[in-house]
Amino acid sequence: MYTKLEEILKNAMQELNYNYEPKVIKSNVETVDFQCDDAFKLAKEYHKAPFVIAEEIVTKIKEDKNFSNYFKEISVSKPGFINISVSDTLINKSLKELITQDKFGVNKENETIVLDYGGPNVAKPLHVGHLRTAIIGQAINNILKFKGNKTIADVHLGDIGTQMGQVIYGILNDFPNQNYEDIDFDLNYLNVTYPKMSALCKEDEEVRKKCAEITKKLQEGDKNYRILWDKIYKLSVNDIKRIYDYLDVHFDYWYGESDAYKQFPEMMKYLEDNNYVKLDNGAKIIDVKEDDDKIDIPPCIIQKSDGAYLYATSDLGTIWQRKKDFNPDEIIYVVDARQSMYFTQIFRASKKTHIFDGKLVHYGNGTVNGKDNKPFKTRTGGALKLEDLIKEVKKEFINLRPENKNMDEQDLDKIVNSILKFADLQNDLTRNYIFDIKKFSEVNGKTGPYILYTYLRINKLLTGNDGNLSDNIYNDIDRKLRLKLLEVTNVIEQASKERRPHYLASYLYELSVIANNFYQNNHMTGLEGQIKNDYNIVLSFNNLVLKTLLNLLGIHIPKTM
Ligand code: ARG
Repeated sequence: MYTKLEEILKNAMQELNYNYEPKVIKSNVETVDFQCDDAFKLAKEYHKAPFVIAEEIVTKIKEDKNFSNYFKEISVSKPGFINISVSDTLINKSLKELITQDKFGVNKENETIVLDYGGPNVAKPLHVGHLRTAIIGQAINNILKFKGNKTIADVHLGDIGTQMGQVIYGILNDFPNQNYEDIDFDLNYLNVTYPKMSALCKEDEEVRKKCAEITKKLQEGDKNYRILWDKIYKLSVNDIKRIYDYLDVHFDYWYGESDAYKQFPEMMKYLEDNNYVKLDNGAKIIDVKEDDDKIDIPPCIIQKSDGAYLYATSDLGTIWQRKKDFNPDEIIYVVDARQSMYFTQIFRASKKTHIFDGKLVHYGNGTVNGKDNKPFKTRTGGALKLEDLIKEVKKEFINLRPENKNMDEQDLDKIVNSILKFADLQNDLTRNYIFDIKKFSEVNGKTGPYILYTYLRINKLLTGNDGNLSDNIYNDIDRKLRLKLLEVTNVIEQASKERRPHYLASYLYELSVIANNFYQNNHMTGLEGQIKNDYNIVLSFNNLVLKTLLNLLGIHIPKTM
């Protein structure tokens, strides 16, 4: 639709000797379908009033003998907007074409893209802070894959940081004089030990030092500590996987920072041989300042004076490994926006040293906040476990209506997912939002359950069709729904280009409102013949659009609700 209109405008402009690629956008006036604002740009270039240029273009278009095939009305409004209302013929022609196209006719892409949207830390349970990253990252992954790209998701576990030394120290205290192989503990033990040790380290300087020593030895490959590390890893990563699975969040690789350590000898040699590192008080650093920086960008420290490696070293090592193993065109990080300075540093370090010359992008996500508009915390002030949030949402939905208590467990889980994900993905990823369980669980309003309900309701109304859409449009709401459906291709293209899943969420909501309106005003029962067939075609395509876009956002449709 957009392409056709742009083509017509461009031809008219060309005949008038205006050389330009016009852009058609949705109109924000209720009575008009589309608009083109390019007369303003042409005005600057050709030194004429925008209104005059717009009039010339519209007159030219109206001269065409096929005018009425495409347009219901085209006019100029001051000071130079071109208003376009399309003909029913064009709507139906475009819709027929769209229905037959694979993947709504989106342009195919063919890049290799690595995505990093995990980053949980081993020995600690997933908390609410991991939710946005996972949901947004998986949605971007799904969208890029839909466009034909080869995507590779890597979880990038924090598996060798200070928390590992702390937990190992705790274990050695609780199981004294035991062979490391024989020490046995479970997940509950881990879940208690980490917060206990972390608190102790804050109070006790001695303990903190000992834990740091253990961490350092572990990083250097200490075999004995590694035995305990293995046990912690298995328990914790199993649990992390269980929650990600529940959220339908998946990774192709479960590499951790500890895997990046294997790259260090080779990478450090490369960096030193090429004089990319500088010594600064015994520490090894990479300078990343640039001349036009408006703020101070500190150097990237990659090895401390005591020989220890840092968070940045493991990210650089990981880029080194990704380049070697996958040779991607791009690496995308969906990580908390508060790490954006850090990513500026490592991206610059990686570019400057030519560890990786492809694209590196950080999409810094906002936080999920509590009612106080601060990152979600439990009553006692700790980070809320993701599993507890999931349980709370489930409870809220079950209590909404008596019949929800008897719902199929799998359906219930799909709805819980829709609540969490739609709440999240309706916001631009950079923004923080307040998680209002009550509001997000309702079947009315801008919620996951509302979209799911719309789908299921329409599905029940469908009675089959022969696939031949007639040239009729029956009323205003019918026209509105068809026009809305025609937007789907652009919406996906835009979401993919800008990596903004919330475009899909906004569209899903707007489409659902119109589709609800459609069946409330056009009763499907009692219809016969052509109109029944046409409505069935339009509504079943509507549901294909809803389902496809929901799936891209990681939301799946329950059997009933
Ligand atoms: N584990 C890190 C943290 O808890 C997040 C990792 C994000 N990903 C990355 N490639 N740095 O802060």
